[in-house]
Amino acid sequence: MTAPYRIERLAKQNRKTFDCGVDRLNRYLKQQASQDERRNVAACYLLIEQATDRVAGFYTLSAGSVLLADLPPEKAKKLPRYPTVPVGRIGRLAVDEDFKGQKLGGVLLVDAISRSSNSELGIYAMVVDAKDEDAVRFYEHHGFIAFGSAPQVLFLPLSEAVKRLLP
Ligand SMILES: CC(C)(COP(=O)(O)OP(=O)(O)OC[C@H]1O[C@@H](n2cnc3c(N)ncnc32)[C@H](O)[C@@H]1OP(=O)(O)O)[C@@H](O)C(=O)NCCC(=O)NCCS
Repeated sequence: MTAPYRIERLAKQNRKTFDCGVDRLNRYLKQQASQDERRNVAACYLLIEQATDRVAGFYTLSAGSVLLADLPPEKAKKLPRYPTVPVGRIGRLAVDEDFKGQKLGGVLLVDAISRSSNSELGIYAMVVDAKDEDAVRFYEHHGFIAFGSAPQVLFLPLSEAVKRLLP
């Protein structure tokens, strides 16, 4: 039996119908994501329904860093004293309204963690930019914790993410 969804890198797929209920994220996918891909500032991955080729969700992944001093002391004390710590940043993540509530947000998160963990780069943690309180709760539900001075930026050490979320 074929899996109902596949995940693939943004290319020429039809994104016209995508609607996650948040204009800013819809516009990003339709108008800006390709440019970010071309400029190598973000990789965009699409979750596509096999039966229809519809885009059910997407996320972006970039290399980033956070200040060691911003991390909770119990995490920071186990790390070397470099000023910054390398992270994989999920800048945007969204599921189309028609596909919500089927754990596809979780599927996208797992895919981002899996790609980061299989990458040949050193990545200490996953960091997410939550767009509002609701998004913060979604990420907290998956084990992410707020850190530093921005309450909507959350992190999860990659080793914990792999244990917790990968099958
Ligand atoms: C947030 C979003 C990605 C969730 O997608 P989804 O596919 O409906 O969520 P899932 O079905 O994968 O949910 C997985 C789990 O998270 C929980 N969850 C989902 N949204 C949640 C929220 N806002 N707060 C708390 N928990 C939430 C679900 O109850 C589910 O729990 P379970 O595994 O114990 O059953 C989706 O609602 C969305 O695209 N929202 C608009 C854009 C957005 O806010 N993006 C977030 C980053 S900017």
